[in-house]
This record gives sequence, C-alpha cells and structure tokens, in this order.
Amino acid sequence: MQTTRQINDLPGPRPWPLAGNLPQLQPQRVHQDVEAWARQYGPLFKMRFGRTPILVVAGHELVSAVLRDRPDGFRRPSITAAVSEEMGGQPGLFISEGAAWRNQRRMVMTALAPHAVKAYFPSLVAVGLRLRQRWQQAARDGRVIDLADDLKRFSVDVIAGLAFGTEVNTIDGGEDVIQRHMDVVLPAVARRSLALFPYWRYIKLPQDHLLDASLAAMTKAIDDMVDAARARLAAEPERRAHPANLLEAMIRAADEGDSGVDDAAVAGNVSTMLLAGEDTTSNTLAWMLYLLHENPSAMQKAREEVLRVAPDPAAFSIEQMDSLDYLDACAQEAMRLKPVAPFIPLEALRDSVVGDVQVPKGSLLWCVMRHDSVSDSLVPNAADFKPERWLAGSEQPVNKHVSMPFGAGVRTCPGRYLALLEIKLASAMLLSSFNIQSIGTTSGEAPQELGGFTMSPIGLQMRLQHS
Ligand code: HEM
Repeated sequence: MQTTRQINDLPGPRPWPLAGNLPQLQPQRVHQDVEAWARQYGPLFKMRFGRTPILVVAGHELVSAVLRDRPDGFRRPSITAAVSEEMGGQPGLFISEGAAWRNQRRMVMTALAPHAVKAYFPSLVAVGLRLRQRWQQAARDGRVIDLADDLKRFSVDVIAGLAFGTEVNTIDGGEDVIQRHMDVVLPAVARRSLALFPYWRYIKLPQDHLLDASLAAMTKAIDDMVDAARARLAAEPERRAHPANLLEAMIRAADEGDSGVDDAAVAGNVSTMLLAGEDTTSNTLAWMLYLLHENPSAMQKAREEVLRVAPDPAAFSIEQMDSLDYLDACAQEAMRLKPVAPFIPLEALRDSVVGDVQVPKGSLLWCVMRHDSVSDSLVPNAADFKPERWLAGSEQPVNKHVSMPFGAGVRTCPGRYLALLEIKLASAMLLSSFNIQSIGTTSGEAPQELGGFTMSPIGLQMRLQHS
C-alpha cells in the first residue's frame, strides 16, 4: 500500500514563533519568495502564515488536479469571501461558491462568450484608436510614455465601457469614479486577507475610514448603473435581444426563469469584471510588449504579421484579430514567463490527498503557477522568449499544460477570449502605427515584478516614433 505523508511531515522554511513564515516574506514579492522556496524544497512543501499551515503545490500536474477538483473538492479561501462580505461587498463570481457560483457562472459565461464579445468589438476598436491618438501626441511631443499606466487606461476604458455601456474615457484624462474607489478597495482586500490580526474590527485607522467611504460610494454608483440599465431595457425591450454591454447581457441572463441570480449578484459581477479584467489584461500587455522589444526577431515577425493581416487600425475586424496567430503565440509566451496571477490560493472542502500528502478538510493550499512553466527540464531553454513554441507545426512545441495563466477546470477565467482580443488589438495598433524607439526602465535593468492583486512591471517606459 502506498504510504502518505501529513502536511506537518513536509519540508519547508523554518517558521518563527507565532508569526510563522510571514516575516520572511516581502509583502510585494511574496510570489517570488514562495517560488524560491519551491525551487529549494520541491513541488510539495509547507509554510505557515501565523499558526496556520499552508500546503504549497508547485508541480503543474498536481496544481492542475487540484484546480480541476472544484467546485466540490476545493474553493477559494473562505477568508477572502469573509473579508469582502465584512466590507459590505456584493457577491461576485470570483468569491462566490456553491449554488450561487454555479448560477452566476452561467450568467457571466453568457455575457463573455466569444459571440457576445464580438458584438462589443466596435467599441473596443474605438478605445484602441483613442489610445493611438494619445500615443501619436506623445510621439509628436517626444514625450516618454508610462507604459503600464497608459495600458491600464486602455483596459479601464474597454472594461468599464463594456460593463456599464456608458462611455468612460480615462485615456483622455477623464475620471472613472468607480475605478478611483476600486483602487482603494483592492489593496485593502489583499492587505486584510493576509493580516495576522483583524485590528479593524476593534479600531479604525484613517485608511479604514477611507475604505468605508470608498466602498459606500462604489456600491451606490454601481447600484445606480444597474437601475439605469433596467430602466433602459424596460423602455426599449428590443435591447434584450441584442445586449449592447455586459451589464445588459447579465440582466438578460439573470431574468431568465431559473437563473437564480438577483440584482445584487448582477451588481457584484459588474465590480468583479472591473476587478478581474483590468490590471490582469493591461499588465499582461505591458510584459508582452517589453519581452517583444527585448527580442528583436520576434518583434520583427509580429510586425510583419500585423502589416500583412491587420495593417489599418481604423478598419480592424474581429476576423483579422482571430487570424493574428503569431501575436497570440507572443501573448501565450509572455504569460508563461510573466503570469500576472502567479499563485492561486485554495481551501479544501473535504478530506483529500494531493500527490502523496493527506489534506484534511479546511486546509489551505497555495498553488504556484510559475514553477514547471519556467523549468528547463520541461521547457527547453525555458528562460528564452520564443513565441514559436506555441505555433501549430512548431519543431519544438511546448507542453501546453505546463502553463496555466488563466487557471484550470470549471473556474478557469471566463474573460480569456476578451483579454486576448484586447491584447491583440492594442499590440496590432501599436505595431502598425509606430516605430518603437525603446521600451525599458530608466536604469536599463529588467523591470522588477511588483506583486499585488496582479503582478505588474515596475517603471516601464516607452518612446515612440510615427512609422
Ligand atoms: C490576461 C488577462 C487575464 C488573466 C491572466 C486572467 C487570469 C485569471 C485567473 C488565473 C483566474 C483564476 C482561475 C482559476 O481559479 O482557475 C481568473 C478568474 C476570473 N477572471 Fe480572469 N484573467 C484575465 C482577464 C479577465 C477578464 C478580461 C475578465 C472579465 C472581463 C476576467 C474575469 C474573471 C472572472 C470573473 C474570474 C472568476 C471566475 C470564477 O471564479 O468562476 N478575467 N482570471
């Protein structure tokens, strides 16, 4: 009979009394610290947050098995849902579980299905052209572009525009009120999820008052949007047949007889779209453009493909975007090296076994998403940026299972089609319209990875010339 180990039998970094391994983790580089431990202790090891043991799972087959054992075997950690609920957040897909998750998942998948996303394509092109204008002005003025910041404006305008059906124009300096509050709320959720002691239940610091105000304002703004969309649909019932935005599509799906979804869940999913769909996409784009610039032959191939398939941004079509195979491969390769969600935490819903380790119900797991995907034993010359690995007919095809940038199983990212479309559209616009003089940091060093809600590059600047 095969013997199994307990979590406590596993190797791992030596914990401090009370605080466990938390003092050894740098708050903004937690992902890298845990990846380094995975290289040292292997694909299954233990660490402690305070007194709580955490099973770290780093091998791609085990990670995939655990992610696929949802919704019944594992869930997202209840602490995240509890923190959000305590803040008064409305339940969205990312933190929902059980029947509520199932019902919302159906609604969100319908709203984000490729054929639904295609209906929003003209507004995506409009936002892409606005970004081009901003960059044309920067090229004329010889101004340095803060790449991550501009790409975030692009993804905010796309997602907020799609989600609410109202024009949001942060590219031209407009403000998105919900976004401003979101930028206060997100770091707070992350901070509180990792806190050793929930001090805010006993005493509120200025940052907690700010958070309360932001939450109240954000909830009201989103509720008003849902009410306005309902009023529009009531006044023009024909809109139901062809929803013009995610909010209308979700209301339509929610109103179907047995949807099990109410307006609070619709509102919760509007904020979830913003939360899950903006920084993820813009940071992936930023990493990809940086890696392309560092690899001139890949850049050359990407440019040739764009000039052949989609040379004019004003005339971009969905069919052109779907044909940009090399750019798609560039995105896959960038996500292999720089997955913006480098770890996925989980909680066991029942007793189970992971590899040879017994995992009692309630245990916490930390799935490392970048371990095998950057290991030379599984990906030849793993550190190199080689988009060709992902092309059909490649001489050295990559084992596609080693990289899971969108997660795996039934909770895999429902926004991946939209995200890849945005990534191809923005990069095709850039490559068709500009010569890139430089993309890099002022020091010339590779950009550092800033961990947070998503993994972003620090200090990337871009200089452009008209092509
Ligand atoms: C390159 C961009 C993106 C990346 C890398 C990404 C990555 C991920 C990952 C790793 C997960 C967790 C999957 C799992 O637990 O197995 C996730 C979930 C999710 N993503 Fe994305 N995402 C991206 C863009 C988007 C966009 C554009 C949207 C929507 C507009 C979106 C909406 C969601 C939602 C709602 C979930 C929760 C799904 C669930 O729990 O059922 N994401 N994403």
